[in-house]
Amino acid sequence: MDPQTAAALLDPDVLAVLDSIEYSPSAEMQIQQRLRKQGLSPDVVAAVMTQAQLRIEARAKFGPFADSMLFTRDGLGQATRLPVAAMHAKRIHRGKPQLIADLGCGIGADALAFAGVGAASVYACDSDEVTAALAAYNLRPFDAIAEHARAEDFNLDRADALWLDPARRSGKNADGSAFRLSHPEAFSPRLSWALAAAERVPSVGIKLGPALSHGLVPAGWEAQWTSHMGDVVEVALFRGHAQEREGRAALIMGEEGSLTVTEADLPSAEVEVASIGDYLFEPDGAVIRSGLIQALCAPLGAHRIHESIAYLSGDRPAEGPAAQAVSQYRVEDILPTGIRSLRGALTQRGITQVVVKKRGMDIDPAQVQRQLKLEPAGKGQPSESAVVIFTRVGEQRCAILAREC
Ligand SMILES: C[S@@+](CC[C@H](N)C(=O)[O-])C[C@H]1O[C@@H](n2cnc3c(N)ncnc32)[C@H](O)[C@@H]1O
Repeated sequence: MDPQTAAALLDPDVLAVLDSIEYSPSAEMQIQQRLRKQGLSPDVVAAVMTQAQLRIEARAKFGPFADSMLFTRDGLGQATRLPVAAMHAKRIHRGKPQLIADLGCGIGADALAFAGVGAASVYACDSDEVTAALAAYNLRPFDAIAEHARAEDFNLDRADALWLDPARRSGKNADGSAFRLSHPEAFSPRLSWALAAAERVPSVGIKLGPALSHGLVPAGWEAQWTSHMGDVVEVALFRGHAQEREGRAALIMGEEGSLTVTEADLPSAEVEVASIGDYLFEPDGAVIRSGLIQALCAPLGAHRIHESIAYLSGDRPAEGPAAQAVSQYRVEDILPTGIRSLRGALTQRGITQVVVKKRGMDIDPAQVQRQLKLEPAGKGQPSESAVVIFTRVGEQRCAILAREC
């Protein structure tokens, strides 16, 4: 969206039209015709329709709040999910700040959480003119301002809490998706600038992509990898009042609440590698990314099956809080990895469909699934499904036949 269209969209009459739309794809043509009859220009009609669609998509991140917000497609894609932003807000408010600066605020998802839960004022800025204008609109009910400005130009002495979520995408692939940048000096603002800025403010959070190398976590900081409803969404670096501990942590946010795994939960010695027991456990991605898998072994009564593969195994099902940190499978058999013998073994057991998973083996699960050519269950026959996990146990390659439980 260009700045002129954004300005037209922000006209109170146009916003009233947008708020009145009950969008559904089947009603699109009808709505467009109605808006044209109301005298809106084709550009403004297109912008209003896009907003109506984006509000529907945004409900996945913002729930009903999406219906009173404005978005750019990129801004929505980069926006923090509301429950995760609420977690950021809890951290950032720990030091009871008076002014929280969110520098590079996007459409304002984190800033909204900061402004919505505490007594502090919020200053937000974005280097993109349209994004900043939409953030200002989204923040309108709160003690917050959002302006079109660069993070690097903000006077850090004004803030007592700082939130940074540097842009990590640039350019477009052929299919229209954005490149993800992996070098922290290519982020905007740069990670080195963010870390230097952090030295000047008493409470700091910096959101980064979960693939961040552990070597980039500065000494004395906390690095918390977070998964939300099974998706690993970020690593956030915390310092000062926002920090709860030193070192690495994994936060698993699920339907039944949250679980935190920390370096303090790690055993004092490496957990042994042993053969497959009755259950196989696949740790949550946040635990894997934070390198804290071995912290789950004692609570699950589990061991590793390989030095570098992120599966654990044990003889009892996962129970207690640690169960939230794993997907678990009841092991039925260890099968050969060759397609023909595997197919034979599955057919013999009456299995009609499988989910193929892999870790530590160079196979394409979708291709294996096709190659297995399992016959679907006959008419009136129940279909029998199982999970086949290709992995290595010690030096041995195997296909573990299992049921999800
Ligand atoms: C990952 S998004 C922020 C998303 C935001 N935390 C949210 O949840 O909605 C990063 C934003 O930083 C902005 N940006 C990039 N470089 C910047 C800079 N030097 N100063 C200010 N903003 C910048 C981009 O335009 C983009 O909107």
